[in-house]
Amino acid sequence: MSKYDEMKKIRDEVIALEEGELSKFRKENNYHAVLGEGSHDSKIMFIGEAPGKNEAMTGRPFCGAAGRILDELLASVEIPRTEVYITNIVKDRPPENRDPLPSEIELYAPFLDRQIDAIEPKVIATLGRFSMEYIMRKMGLSFELEPISRAHGKVYDGKAGFGPVKVVPLYHPAAAIYNQSLKDTLKKDFQTLRNL
Ligand code: URA
Repeated sequence: MSKYDEMKKIRDEVIALEEGELSKFRKENNYHAVLGEGSHDSKIMFIGEAPGKNEAMTGRPFCGAAGRILDELLASVEIPRTEVYITNIVKDRPPENRDPLPSEIELYAPFLDRQIDAIEPKVIATLGRFSMEYIMRKMGLSFELEPISRAHGKVYDGKAGFGPVKVVPLYHPAAAIYNQSLKDTLKKDFQTLRNL
C-alpha cells in the first residue's frame, strides 16, 4: 500500500472510531477528528498533544493561538509549514481542553505510530510533555527521560521500526502564549532543528 493510501486508511479508521469519550464528544458537537497536515514526504514531524476547539472545528492541527506561535517559530528559522508534517498523539478534542487520559493516549497512539511509519521522518520534534514521554519511550529512549525543563532542545538518537530517528523535545507552543522568555527558549530550540 502506498503511504498516501495508508494515511487515508488511518484517517477513515479514526473517523469511524466508536470507542472512548472523545469520539462521542466529537460526534455530539459536529467536530472534526484532526489527523494531521503537511507533506507526507517530510523529513520532520511535529507531534503535539490533542486538538483544541479551533482545531476540532476546522479539522486542522495547530490553527488557533498555539498554532500562531508555531507558525512564528517555523518562520523564524525559515521552515515552510507546508514542508513539514504536523499532528498530535490524540486525534479528538478533549472536553474543556483537559489533559488527555492515559487510556486516551493508548487508544489513539497506534494511529500516530502508523503515521510515523508511513512518513518515515528523520527527525521528530515533540511539542509538550505528553508527546515527549510517549515518543521517547516508543523510540527506545526511556532511559534518557527527564523533565522537559532539562530535555528541551536536546537531540536524542532514537530507533524507529524503519531506522534511526532524531528526537528533539520542545516546549508546547501554548506555554509561550503569555511567556516571552519561554518563546525565546523555543526560538533557540528551533535553531537546533534548523541545524539538523
Ligand atoms: N495544541 C495541541 O497540542 N495540538 C493542536 O493541534 C492544537 C493545540
